[in-house]
Amino acid sequence: MEISGRTKLCCVIGDPVEHTLSPVMHNVAFEELNLNFVYLAFRVKKEELRDAILGARSLNIHGLNVTMPHKTAVMEHLDEIDSMAKSIGAVNTILNAGGKLVGYVTDGVGAVRALKENGVNLEGKKVLLLGAGGAAKAIAFHVAQEVEELKILNRTTWKAKELAEVLGKKFNKKVSGNLCSSELVKKELEEADILINATSVGMHPDVNRSLVDPNWLRPDLCVMDIIYNPLETKLAKNAKSVGAKVVSGIEMLVHQGAASFGIWTNQPAPVKAMRKAVSNKLSTLGALS
Ligand code: ATR
Repeated sequence: MEISGRTKLCCVIGDPVEHTLSPVMHNVAFEELNLNFVYLAFRVKKEELRDAILGARSLNIHGLNVTMPHKTAVMEHLDEIDSMAKSIGAVNTILNAGGKLVGYVTDGVGAVRALKENGVNLEGKKVLLLGAGGAAKAIAFHVAQEVEELKILNRTTWKAKELAEVLGKKFNKKVSGNLCSSELVKKELEEADILINATSVGMHPDVNRSLVDPNWLRPDLCVMDIIYNPLETKLAKNAKSVGAKVVSGIEMLVHQGAASFGIWTNQPAPVKAMRKAVSNKLSTLGALS
C-alpha cells in the first residue's frame, strides 16, 4: 500500500507501547483489504494525554486504540462515549467521526467473540471469572448478559463484590463476587462450565504461576486465559493436558482488535490474517520482556 495524501492514520496511545502487537495486526488487516490506512504506536505519558488528544483532533487522526494507563483518563477528553464503555468506565477504541471523537470499549466483545468463534456457546452456562481489574470488568459486562450464572473471584474481594452487584442488577442475572482463594477457586470450579483467567497471574516473566491447581481441571471444562505472553500459559498448558478446551489469549487480542477495526472501517475484519500476523510476531519475538 502506497502512503499518500489520502492515507488515514490509526494509532495506539499508551505508556509503554514498545511491545504492542496492534501495529502488526492492523497494518496486515489494512493491507489484506487494500485499505488506504496506516497504523502507528505513540508513547504518551500520563501528563501528556490531553495534548495527545488535542493533537489527534487537529491532525485528524481517524482512529485510536487506548491502552494502559489512559483507558479511563481519556474519557473526559472525548465528545461522546458509547453506553457500554460508560458503564465499564473505560475506553480502548476511539473513532474520529467527522471531527467528533467517540469512545468505545472492545475488550469484552473480543472475549465473547473469541469464545463463540472457538465453538463455545455461552447460553445456559456457568462461568467462573478470575480477576476484577480493567479487562475482567469489560469481559464480565459482556459475559454476564449471555450466561446462566457468573461467579467472580478476585484477590481484592471488594472489587469482585462491587462488580457482581452492579452486573446482577443491570442484567438481572445470578452474579456473585468473592475472594480469589485456593479454596474458593477449587470449590467454584466444580460447578463451572467455563473458566476465564483475567488476572495477570501467569504473565511473563511470572510464567510458572497459575491460580488453578491442575487437579481441579476437567476435560469437560472450557478454559480461556486472556494472557498472550507467553503464547501458552501454565494454566492453558495444564488445561490442555487434561483434555479441556482451551481458548488462548491471542484469540481475545485478535477479536478485540477486529472489533476496533470494524468501528474504524465499517468492514468485517480479516481475522485469519490478523491472527497469523500476531502469532508470527509473537513466535519470532519469543517472550516479550
Ligand atoms: P488489566 O487492565 O490488564 O485487567 P488490572 O486492572 O491491573 O489489569 O487487573 C489485574 C488483575 O489481576 C486484577 O484482578 C488483580 O487483582 P487485584 O484487583 O486484587 O489487584 C489481579 N492480580 C494481579 N496480580 C495478582 C496476584 N498475584 N494474585 C491474584 N490476582 C492478581
